[in-house]
Amino acid sequence: SWTMADFIDIKIKEIRQLVGDGKVLLGLSGGVDSSVVGVLLQKAIGDQLTCIFVDHGLLRKNEAEQVMDTLGGKFGLNIIKVDAQDRFLDKLAGVSDPEKKRKIIGNEFVYVFDDEAQKIKDVDYLAQGTLYTDVIESGTETAQTIKSHHNVGGLPEDMTFSLIEPLNTLFKDEVRAVGTELGMPHDIVWRQPFPGPGLAIRIIGEVTPEKLEIVRESDAILREEIAKNGLEGDIWQYFTVLPGFKSVGVMGDERTYDYTIGIRAVTSIDGMTSEWARIPYDVLDVISKRIVNECSHINRVVLDITSKPPATIEWE
Ligand code: XMP
Repeated sequence: SWTMADFIDIKIKEIRQLVGDGKVLLGLSGGVDSSVVGVLLQKAIGDQLTCIFVDHGLLRKNEAEQVMDTLGGKFGLNIIKVDAQDRFLDKLAGVSDPEKKRKIIGNEFVYVFDDEAQKIKDVDYLAQGTLYTDVIESGTETAQTIKSHHNVGGLPEDMTFSLIEPLNTLFKDEVRAVGTELGMPHDIVWRQPFPGPGLAIRIIGEVTPEKLEIVRESDAILREEIAKNGLEGDIWQYFTVLPGFKSVGVMGDERTYDYTIGIRAVTSIDGMTSEWARIPYDVLDVISKRIVNECSHINRVVLDITSKPPATIEWE
């Protein structure tokens, strides 16, 4: 039987043979799949690989920095980071419908990626973090597969590269094992699922810079406390949501009228169904106090205690 080390050796040889002295392009999302592909390709072909990392401004706190420091710094990947926050926020202004928000973000992602890709000359291959489960779900490995993948937001239609999909025989747990074998940090290898549209779908209604800041800061507090209490491994996904309505509170002698933060934390096997995670009351208490103290314009914290179904994991 083969080991993950064997898998890596075999793939590196395959990739070298296929690519020769050609150029490969990879879209990095910060997720485990594209990160593992990046590190694997870097080991195989070094700087013949160029990565494009689109920061759409909807990532979690410190996420973009972590991608650049770890993958760009420690692992030496050649990464072009595109700071496209303004482009995405402009396009999202005034839009409240969840599906419209998703579509705008997906489309804008394609435009930004395309703009950068055009600047790189003579690209021969496009690498993708497609898994075995993606192959099964999408049917065959054709260009159609790429477009139907919502987690990278789709790719330009007129790009005619050959695909390299080194993980397309693996399941998620095997990808994690490969990442670990490659020496990648726990934070990346065990990263919880994070939607392509990012924090935009955790702000109910219109996305504004102020609301982004609130949801990003409260999410960071939640993640910090979950980590501090060693609960990461027990919970499938945990995040905060900004419903966007205001309610009455009191601070000192003053009446306040401010936003509510919702805490969503679920256990699940595959994201298709879920149960709400039983986070200990004392941990919830610390999280709640920290959120109202450290985040501006929050005077109330609530816990989502619905399973999926009937609720979805995300609120949008
Ligand atoms: P729901 O909310 O449908 O989520 O119960 C199930 C899983 O899918 C993730 N999710 C998304 N992932 N683009 C993504 O890449 C999306 O638009 C999207 N919407 C939901 C969600 O985080 C959960 O893991």
